[in-house]
Amino acid sequence: MQMTADQFRIIQISDPHLGRRRPFFQHNWEVLVELLNAETYDLIVCTGDMSIEGAEFEDELVFAAQQFERIRGPVLFTPGNHDIGNSLPDVRGGETAITAARCDAFVRYFGPDFWSRDIGSHWRLVGLNSMLPGSGLDGEAQQQAMIEEVVASAAGRRLMVFKHKPLYVRQPDETAMTQSALYPEHRARLKDTLSSAGNALICSGHIHDYKTASWEGLDQIWAPSTAFVIDRDGLLHPLHGIRRTGYLVHTLAGDKHSHEFVEPDRFLNIDVGNWMRAPETFHARYHAEPLRGLTLADGQQS
Ligand SMILES: [Fe+2]
Ligand SMILES: [Fe+2]
Repeated sequence: MQMTADQFRIIQISDPHLGRRRPFFQHNWEVLVELLNAETYDLIVCTGDMSIEGAEFEDELVFAAQQFERIRGPVLFTPGNHDIGNSLPDVRGGETAITAARCDAFVRYFGPDFWSRDIGSHWRLVGLNSMLPGSGLDGEAQQQAMIEEVVASAAGRRLMVFKHKPLYVRQPDETAMTQSALYPEHRARLKDTLSSAGNALICSGHIHDYKTASWEGLDQIWAPSTAFVIDRDGLLHPLHGIRRTGYLVHTLAGDKHSHEFVEPDRFLNIDVGNWMRAPETFHARYHAEPLRGLTLADGQQS
């Protein structure tokens, strides 16, 4: 991709959680489609969870992909746990987990689940599948080989890595295996692999909080969700950053990067934190609670 003029604008959206069965978050999506179609940008990257239930129902992946056709491209995607299933081992139990078939379905509708693109002479964008590490699937080794190759051939380009899960939740040395972030072994492997490429920038989603962090040369930006937050006040789920819906605009100018957190004034800040009070666990309700009341008929936009 060419850098037009002297700037390259990337709009990072994350976690829109689209669903035909459970269209809780369609309002913000409709607003986002209008806004993006009036915006100036060079690329959109969506860092996962395009769907709510794409891992369970392939037609939900199709629905989410069709929704993205309403946005002017180019758009690049990295898969989320709601799209292809979560990481292995299944530390919470009862999880819909990653499989080769689920990854294949993702690729059919959203394109490669890991990729790289060069922007001008200073930047190399890298998209990763956060759930492949530890899966034992062929894709795990293939993705690792790609990361090693893009690092080895970077030739001074700075890496800007997009992936669904953050490197860690609170501290880089945390030892817990949590589905909220990369497992410690995979975090260490990624850091080791990226280390010879200099100061990489890691842009993630998944937590639905906006935050920046840095760890020994790895700068991190967590993108907010465009769809919803989880427990806004941090009563049941500790706050990590700014817990509001929105999206990010990244600007690459020469070798410089800056970003902006955008909160459209027509967005709703839907908070699904009460689902954490569910006796069958938040996870169960997140995956099963139906939308009640009127829903839009197929194909109806307003
Ligand atoms: Fe999400
Ligand atoms: Fe997620």
